[in-house]
Amino acid sequence: MITPGIEGRYFLSYEHIHQSVKALAGRIVSSGFDPDLIVAIGSGGFIPARILKTFIPRPILTVGISYYGADNKPAESPRAIQWIDQVEQKLAGKKVLLVDEVDDSRTTLEYCLRELLLHHPAQIAVAVLHNKKKEKKGRIPQAVGPYFAGEEIDDKWICYPWDAQDIAEHERISRSGILSR
Ligand code: G4P
Ligand code: MG
Repeated sequence: MITPGIEGRYFLSYEHIHQSVKALAGRIVSSGFDPDLIVAIGSGGFIPARILKTFIPRPILTVGISYYGADNKPAESPRAIQWIDQVEQKLAGKKVLLVDEVDDSRTTLEYCLRELLLHHPAQIAVAVLHNKKKEKKGRIPQAVGPYFAGEEIDDKWICYPWDAQDIAEHERISRSGILSR
């Protein structure tokens, strides 16, 4: 369990993230889902996917999708800024684990899942570190599953360590007891 800290935000340390990815990987393995490939949604999904690979060692492909414009406001729709080359041959018939850091509005996830489904994977499962408990704008297509979330959390802003300008200060806040587990 994590509880909101300063100004109702969640401050998460690298250690906390690593521990929750380990627990998430344990649940994925116990479910019997055994992916051939990990697909990380950049940029937020890059570090979680790499930690996941420590526990579920599979090749990682990456897709770059941005839902925020240059002014940091949400754009009309998600935009692919980079996509997997030769997607069809890499995904066709494969069991894919799609990884991102947070399931927020679900818009980016839905966009990405629909694109990946066009390339006929055998199965696509989803793993996110955090699912925000809120009304979602996007939906997970029926063909997708299972869906794994490391932690179900309230709809508050999460401060991930990789976004910190001052990592020492970030880690101090996340360990100060304001954030409890
Ligand atoms: P979703 O489908 O996964 O729910 O994503 P959604 O389109 O709603 O997310 C829009 C952007 O907002 C995403 O960044 C997501 O990572 C970011 N975001 C949403 N909630 C939080 C939060 O609590 N903390 C942080 N740090 N980010 C959040 P993006 O456009 O994909 O950019 P990138 O940061 O992944 O490169
Ligand atoms: Mg993202």
